[in-house]
Amino acid sequence: MRSPIMDYLDDILTQTAHVDSGAPADYIPELAAADPDRVAVALCTVNGTVYASGDSDHEFSIQSMSKPFAYALAVEDRGLDDILGRVGVEPSGEAFNELSLDPETGKPRNPMINAGAIATHALIHDEPAPAVDRLLALYSELSQRPIRIDESLAASELATGDRNLGLAYLLHASERLSKDPAAAVEGYIRQCSASVTVRDLALMASTLANGGVQPNTGRSLFGRQTTRHLLGVMTTCGMYDAAGDWLTSVGIPAKSGVAGGIIGVLPGQVGVAVFSPRLDEHGNSARGVVMMEKLSQDLGLHLMEPGRPARSALREIRKETVEGEPTTIYVLQGDMVLSSIEALVHELVQNPPSTDLVIFDMSRVDEVLPVARRTSAAMATKLIDAGHTLILVDPEEAIPGFRDAQGRGMRRWTSAYLARHLD
Ligand code: DON
Repeated sequence: MRSPIMDYLDDILTQTAHVDSGAPADYIPELAAADPDRVAVALCTVNGTVYASGDSDHEFSIQSMSKPFAYALAVEDRGLDDILGRVGVEPSGEAFNELSLDPETGKPRNPMINAGAIATHALIHDEPAPAVDRLLALYSELSQRPIRIDESLAASELATGDRNLGLAYLLHASERLSKDPAAAVEGYIRQCSASVTVRDLALMASTLANGGVQPNTGRSLFGRQTTRHLLGVMTTCGMYDAAGDWLTSVGIPAKSGVAGGIIGVLPGQVGVAVFSPRLDEHGNSARGVVMMEKLSQDLGLHLMEPGRPARSALREIRKETVEGEPTTIYVLQGDMVLSSIEALVHELVQNPPSTDLVIFDMSRVDEVLPVARRTSAAMATKLIDAGHTLILVDPEEAIPGFRDAQGRGMRRWTSAYLARHLD
């Protein structure tokens, strides 16, 4: 059975197909050659399953989406106080390649603009391996596959990287760069030239959503405090001079890259990634921004949206005989948000119920966000199509007037079940 979450991601591509404004970056010659019509979207909740649609195996360069991970590595290497003494955390309100130094302290304003990212790259320890190799190993651990540098892209950017070199020399002149400027820029450009897919990025983002723990391996790659701090910086600085628009309309910590990728992180719930090479005037993917707006709206991801994430919405699965019929009972609990409905859908897709009769017991469910209502309706359609009879135990009417996508109702349960199963 195909997951309704996959169907939803396909819809996102269809619904944004008309967005063709902007153009691929051309200040790096190799990027100008990108196929502007490529598009992909992926998401991965803290449960670790990746869902993707479009050109989801197409590789493109990570670019500025490397900056959060490089910053986290520098913070882990040196400690937060040391890093805060060298690179600020204030949004600059300026373009990504502006020389934004705080006039009072002389520090780069933040680690998401190029000046701060070059300074940050130079702060990553070269032990036990050179900084770039450590970053590649980190990307690979995050995405669970070997990540490599696109060497011809790195060469292309190095050959035209005067502006970044200029930033590095100015930082060096104000004693804000701990390495030789040319070496720092070369390392930084290589950090940006790693080839990734939206699948890789969704996994990388979901690790940040999961407090720094890679959801599939369970390895803690960043400390909780580092991760929380980083997400704060991404929220205020990740989208450069579009940060205010972004925070109000999409409302999640994010980072864009000039190859056309954007990652977003909803703490405790989900990492998302989109890709489309045409950029807007801020250097952010134009269609990517629209896709992210839709994802945030549809999936209830806005940070300011009330509603508490519940990780284990599926309390238990029971097999019982109910009124003479073998039955599978799914007992749900807590708030039904994206990550909780995803966990339920994943279970149903991976291990479809073996009985005709299926009961969803929602008597312990508190709040049901629209995303959970829609996704459960889509899932119900698939189960009914597969021949199951569904019964919803919903004493609080958490899902009022429930209908599946075709308007077919699920039977609401009688008091017999409630009498037996509820206190
Ligand atoms: O330094 C640069 O210009 C690129 N390597 C990265 C810039 C970037 O991705 C800006 N983000 N949208």
